[in-house]
Amino acid sequence: MKVNGTHYRSLWWNHKDDVLEIIDQRWLPHDFRVQPVNTLQDFADAIVEMRVRGAPLIGATAAYGMALAMRQDPSDAAMDHAWSFLNATRPTAINLRWALDRCRNHLRPLAESERAAAALALAHEIADEDVEINRSIGSHGLELIKEIAAKKPAGEPVRLLTHCNAGWIATVDWGTATSPMYQAHDAGIPIHVWVDETRPRNQGALTSWELGSHGISHSYITDNAGGHLMQHGQVDLVITGTDRTTRRGDVCNKIGTYLKALAAKDNGVPFYVALPSPTIDWTVSDGVAEIPIEERSEREITHVQGKTEDGGIGVVQVTPDGTPGGNPAFDVTPNRLVTGLITERGICDASEEGLAGLFPEMAAAKSA
Ligand code: MRU
Repeated sequence: MKVNGTHYRSLWWNHKDDVLEIIDQRWLPHDFRVQPVNTLQDFADAIVEMRVRGAPLIGATAAYGMALAMRQDPSDAAMDHAWSFLNATRPTAINLRWALDRCRNHLRPLAESERAAAALALAHEIADEDVEINRSIGSHGLELIKEIAAKKPAGEPVRLLTHCNAGWIATVDWGTATSPMYQAHDAGIPIHVWVDETRPRNQGALTSWELGSHGISHSYITDNAGGHLMQHGQVDLVITGTDRTTRRGDVCNKIGTYLKALAAKDNGVPFYVALPSPTIDWTVSDGVAEIPIEERSEREITHVQGKTEDGGIGVVQVTPDGTPGGNPAFDVTPNRLVTGLITERGICDASEEGLAGLFPEMAAAKSA
């Protein structure tokens, strides 16, 4: 999508310097900084420090990390080391393991002399595929927004609510939850987006930056406001992203998503999840019992980064000195609370039958 009128993906290959470049998301929305990623350690740090973040983008980044590793040493041992090293960076988003498995399965049968070029070509392929998947998710989600818009008086906006940043910078382009929003806006359908701030890291500020850059009407709201807005008929549709969805349709996403789904259920608001197929973990069923939830540093709770009055970027402490914190970064929304899953192949029920109906070959492969 565009930043100040120039089209960007969230990562790209710099052909001149022969290196991957990323947007360092730690400084957004206040500062747009681009940096190269040069070593395997640097790839791992970029994921851990959330310079790159969002499940699909983590996966694509890891594929480029594998490409770098193969360029330095194309042996089986180096491949396995890169797999383990990168896979250990963040535990919840399944796209990381999906991308690393895909790379290793593709590269293992090749001669060592072929691996560096093949790994880079595959990383490009994974990145391009992600863009197409998200574009398709947007076209299916657009139909949902059109249906709601058709029942409203002309000109009245469809009011959506989203949590975290499942936007273009969380993917390679388009975003998952935001793709239907971009496509609705581009189709001339009036929309307004309630953007949850998403404490502690305030990814909602990233979503606000994205939507604002695209001219989409939105309001940044506290994480606690969604239920109130739903009770007062101010939300027509919730769309969130996901970091891992189980084969029966339980959805693991940024902490607080579950509470939004409960409030949506209680108020009869449709709750949809935008789900690229690489985010399905066919090996797990019960998300609450089986998905590992990342526990992040308590400093993310006790301190907040933002723009200072003199225009710089600063960090302040919001709690008394020494206050202990707890920081689970994701939660699981059981499938019973999910109205539907918006995938690149269409919309389905959040159920084993729904997902297997759209992705029969994947469901069969994992249960074999
Ligand atoms: O911790 P983050 O910022 O990587 O978490 C991101 C999310 O939870 C997104 O909603 C999810 O990855 C879907 S991104 C299209």
